[in-house]
Amino acid sequence: MMEETYSQQLLNDAASLTVKALSPASGSAGWSCPSNIALIKYWGKKPVQIPMNPSLSMTLDEARTFTRVDYTFDPAQTDPAFSFSFEGRQAPAFSQRIEGYLKFITPYLPLLAHTSLQIESRNTFPHSSGIASSASAMGALALCLLDIEQTITGTAHPEEFMRKASFLARLGSGSASRSLFPQFSLWGKSEGWTGSSDEFAVSFSGFHPSFGNLRDTILIVEAGAKKVSSSAGHGLMEKNPYAPVRFEQARVNLGEIRNALESGDWPLFLEIMEMEALALHAMMLTGKPGYLLMQPGTLSIIQKIRAFRKETGKRLGFTLDAGANVHLIFSGNDSDRVNAFISSELLPHCENGRAISDRMGDGPQRF
Ligand code: DP6
Repeated sequence: MMEETYSQQLLNDAASLTVKALSPASGSAGWSCPSNIALIKYWGKKPVQIPMNPSLSMTLDEARTFTRVDYTFDPAQTDPAFSFSFEGRQAPAFSQRIEGYLKFITPYLPLLAHTSLQIESRNTFPHSSGIASSASAMGALALCLLDIEQTITGTAHPEEFMRKASFLARLGSGSASRSLFPQFSLWGKSEGWTGSSDEFAVSFSGFHPSFGNLRDTILIVEAGAKKVSSSAGHGLMEKNPYAPVRFEQARVNLGEIRNALESGDWPLFLEIMEMEALALHAMMLTGKPGYLLMQPGTLSIIQKIRAFRKETGKRLGFTLDAGANVHLIFSGNDSDRVNAFISSELLPHCENGRAISDRMGDGPQRF
């Protein structure tokens, strides 16, 4: 017999809920959720929002989305409604995305069909800074919606809460599934990782203390909206001739980076992290059509980071997202020296000399 999927289990739970027996209610929920940066990259997916390979990320701290949802619930209401504002203004493009998202997740949160929602959201980081805003935004929204559902039904399951929130966030944006946990998160079924799943992310906590105070300084080579959306990028992987090799490489790299994180092997950690960043961009270069998101400044920064590491032996390396900006990952123990290096050598390659300093964080918070 086939094992019941988590999705099926949630649908069964939803089907057993008697909405009519619930009383009308109103209230609000507020959550902040951080963004995350992938060390092992998710690039390529199949329906519905299932990754072609597992990915591992570091949860950020400062870069967050704050979302508050005011709701009214009435079991007799059959016409769901919502409004959305971002940083106090209407945001039609994101509103449309939320509309689709709410419809998509209603089978898992059946009360949504009987609610009016007023959603207000803001980010702590500038839009188009290259920080994955869909991860923090979808994470925060999923948390608020689940919170509301559980408040109305009076069925709080604290131990299940983050898992279900991660599942719901994933349906909004794959990488969002990983933003719900402190420090490191793994999304994707992986051999040797008990409890790992393609349907939600899990926390990874067994790392060596030398990775306990990681920093991420995001060097803004190019501010501005993404030139090619992640969805389009994932789509191009379907026909990329290197894709099968890439998916296998990610699995191997996941095992290696886990060994590095558990044993405190910094050279191996940095090697795998950088290999992953370059492999992600290699997939973009070799798709049909191929595209190039790195800029001359990206390459100059990468070269300088490698030269500085060779010269000083400091624990630092780079990773990249789907854009030109560089995430400089380093140990907080070396902050003074690395920050001086950033100011003198790297900021000159950044747009208007801009960088955003962040660090590994503890995950979402209620507010
Ligand atoms: C390059 O999570 O943005 O940041 O699931 O289509 O919303 P969708 O894609 P998204 O893809 C992120 C890709 C990446 C790598 C990563 O975060 O793992």
